[in-house]
Amino acid sequence: MTGWRRGSDVSDTWRLDHPWATVYTFGMRHRLLAGAVGRVAFGTDLAGMYDAIAAIRDVPAGGTVLDVPCGGGVALSGLVGAPPLRYVAVDIAPAMLRRTARMAARLGVVVETLEADVAALPLQDRSVDLCLSLTGLHCFPDPRAAVRELARVSRDRIALTWLRSDAGLRYRPILAAGRAADLVGRSATADEVGGWLAEAGFDVTVQVDGSFGYAQARRG
Ligand SMILES: C[S@@+](CC[C@H](N)C(=O)[O-])C[C@H]1O[C@@H](n2cnc3c(N)ncnc32)[C@H](O)[C@@H]1O
Repeated sequence: MTGWRRGSDVSDTWRLDHPWATVYTFGMRHRLLAGAVGRVAFGTDLAGMYDAIAAIRDVPAGGTVLDVPCGGGVALSGLVGAPPLRYVAVDIAPAMLRRTARMAARLGVVVETLEADVAALPLQDRSVDLCLSLTGLHCFPDPRAAVRELARVSRDRIALTWLRSDAGLRYRPILAAGRAADLVGRSATADEVGGWLAEAGFDVTVQVDGSFGYAQARRG
């Protein structure tokens, strides 16, 4: 873990491994804790995120899953008991990728880790069966560019969970504190994300729970 360094933008602050990254990773690895903190602080127990993780097991054998940002590897639990898949875990932060690699070793699953920006993924068009972007959009400087890039590489499904920019008044202090620390960017509203995915040719449903948005999209 490094010191309290601020990057040139929200992604860069994460890339430098802000101390919050360690705290966050610990919390997310303990579902009961994550659910309890999520309910109190964000008004959601993150059930929609764990449902998205469970959907990894529905990808047909030989398929490809993209997990961006993978963070500390919270979604890898979905690989346990899944058919053989190519699992590509992408993050802009080398420290996060190391945490994901350690988590993969602990769970005994095979994962490719890749350092990249979600807005410029080194993947072919329509090469991914399931794109997961969990608690990610609010951490990117340009969420629209991220959604566009996920749509480009996706051949079938996309699941997105994020802290919405249109979260209610109760959540404004959290958004403000995150932005002050450069850990939260502009984020996006539920309508924006739904619109961007629809524009890219996906059938989409967006559910709102507390301050979070949960989008499920399928190529139309
Ligand atoms: C709140 S964490 C979420 C991680 C993980 N999906 C989870 O739910 O635990 C946000 C992650 O976004 C990563 N990140 C920030 N900007 C990024 C970018 N432009 N491209 C890829 N990853 C990025 C950070 O390094 C961090 O791991």
